[in-house]
Amino acid sequence: MKRIGVLTSGGDNPGLNACIRAVVREGLDLGLEVMGIRRGFAGLLDGEIAQLTARSVGGIMSRGGTILGTARCPEFYEVSGRREALRTLNRFEIEGLVVIGGNGSLTGALELWRMGFPVVGVPSTIDNDVTGTDTAIGVDTALNTIIDAIDKIKDTATSHNRAFLIETMGRHCGYLALASGIAGGAEIVLVPEVETTYDEITDKIEAAYIRGKPHCIIVVAEGWKPGTEALAEYLSSRQETVGFSVRLTRLGYVQRGGSASALDRILATRLGAAAARGLVEGHGGHMAALAQNAVTMVPLPDALSCTKELSSQMWELAQVMER
Ligand code: F6P
Repeated sequence: MKRIGVLTSGGDNPGLNACIRAVVREGLDLGLEVMGIRRGFAGLLDGEIAQLTARSVGGIMSRGGTILGTARCPEFYEVSGRREALRTLNRFEIEGLVVIGGNGSLTGALELWRMGFPVVGVPSTIDNDVTGTDTAIGVDTALNTIIDAIDKIKDTATSHNRAFLIETMGRHCGYLALASGIAGGAEIVLVPEVETTYDEITDKIEAAYIRGKPHCIIVVAEGWKPGTEALAEYLSSRQETVGFSVRLTRLGYVQRGGSASALDRILATRLGAAAARGLVEGHGGHMAALAQNAVTMVPLPDALSCTKELSSQMWELAQVMER
């Protein structure tokens, strides 16, 4: 193997540049040429490819986002799209590919592998919903962004004796809401994985008010149903029952930006270097993963066999800490 490619795909996050840098620097150390593919699988289909050097990735560690750009690419879900991608890879004489992304992107990586092309994946999504790895690139930085927001909102919630709904990202996975709820000292955490009724929520808020709490922080994953907006309307119409007046803050895309935390930079560097090495060592069809703080290679079919379950230990802990 003389030349590999690297791309970032799907939702971005602050650790991507550290990972790209590690793939390039490890690849160069292994005597490889490293080609950067812009805009994820979309750029692969369009042949937006250029060589990366050690200098190309200098000074990017602290920058959020991805110097390669990223995109979501529905065309790639079709065999015709994947065939075009293989044509492009051959045209550029790329012999192996590192795909940095979440479940959707890693599924694309697995499909390329199944078509006979060496691909190694790197789990990268703030949702932390990739199975087979303790965590993913971007999670730690997103959590710190959320906790900073919770601390700030708690100040004003206390001043005004208010209940605040704080919505985090996490379409299908409640990890960000649960982890930030624990770290932020929330009174209530709502996640897609656990059904919580309006009555249960109302009872908890009323209990917090009666216990004399100066505020009530409710962290809600965007994937929780029936949704943060509907809950805010419901609670606002029952203010006399719950005691607190209610406000809503959606954190949105600030959770995807910023400068990567030290933990994310180290994780991204470890996994990116392992992925480049994995291509050379014949670990195509695997994902570089973290297991008990050791880097390991997990078969992509295993990593994509199911969605990551929410920790029941952390869920139980959150229920106790809400008191
Ligand atoms: O997958 C990560 C994520 O940030 C989700 O938490 C969020 O719902 C989604 O991406 C947003 O997708 P997009 O960036 O395409 O709007």
